Amino acid sequence: MDSSMHPYRSVLYIPGSKERALDKARSLPTDAIIFDLEDAVAPDAKAEARQLLVETLRQGGYGKRSKIVRINALTTEWGLEDARALRDAGADAILLPKVNTSSDIDNLSDVIGSDLPIWTMMETPVSAFNAREIASHAQVAGLVAGTNDLTKDLGCRTRADRLPLMTALQMIVMAARAARIVVVDGVYNRFRDGDGLKAECEQGRDLGFDGKTLIHPAQVEIANTAFAPTNSEIELAARQIAAYEESRASGQGIAVVDGQIVENLHVVAAQRIQAKARAIAEMAAE
Ligand code: COA
Ligand code: MG
Repeated sequence: MDSSMHPYRSVLYIPGSKERALDKARSLPTDAIIFDLEDAVAPDAKAEARQLLVETLRQGGYGKRSKIVRINALTTEWGLEDARALRDAGADAILLPKVNTSSDIDNLSDVIGSDLPIWTMMETPVSAFNAREIASHAQVAGLVAGTNDLTKDLGCRTRADRLPLMTALQMIVMAARAARIVVVDGVYNRFRDGDGLKAECEQGRDLGFDGKTLIHPAQVEIANTAFAPTNSEIELAARQIAAYEESRASGQGIAVVDGQIVENLHVVAAQRIQAKARAIAEMAAE
């Protein structure tokens, strides 16, 4: 899984028009950045933001943070120019909003070529039904749950337990896992409410997301903590691997650690925890 090589615990949106925020992100401990040209930028600021973003990316300074640019949909008056301007600006991926089918991805691919990875917003009811087809497109490397748009289109209530979104969220996670690509959760709008964010991060983590999209620097540490393996998980993983190796050496296929069986599949999960912990340590070592 890609996410074991590079962490995506915290994926911060930055409006492409906000120079100060673009600069500030160079020193924030975020795993990835979504430079936004879509909903965070007002219509009459789109062209200027596009230019600013091209220059900002050329300047660089974002270290190991993954750089993802969210362009406008190709059906809008800005999308095509966004794609043309950003394809060679040094982004790690282009994030396409309002995706419904894999042909939307083909249309972007026709403009940017087939080498630059594409991430997709999963934010329409149709995209949830087509999640498998979208995620398994050869160029798609990541899915982003767009929970605000989903809530709007479903006409559902915003609830702390996110029950009305659960089917869509799980379809998005399942599609990403089936395709072995990255998947990150939607934003938490009350950006000053750390406790609420923490609870939603933990729910997203428990559902299988690699991380969460964020809108404010104050959210970064909370997501980084929630989506990182805990010390006790790392320690347990090491003991499980050791116990399993020992039992294999004595001709057995199963070990027992802390009263629970450890089979080959648990070892794979334990190795994944270790790989993620290593990737996070590398990120921090910058
Ligand atoms: N990325 C990087 N830096 C950000 C940031 C972001 N998303 N949001 C705020 N900052 C910076 C500000 O520039 C400010 O920096 P400074 O101390 O150098 O001046 C600092 O963090 C504190 O900002 P604050 O005053 O608390 O926030 P605000 O009231 O100016 O802005 C929002 C609040 C929500 C409007 C702003 O955080 C934002 O625009 N978020 C992104 C929204 C977005 O991208 N939406 C689209 C996807 S849902
Ligand atoms: Mg949206």
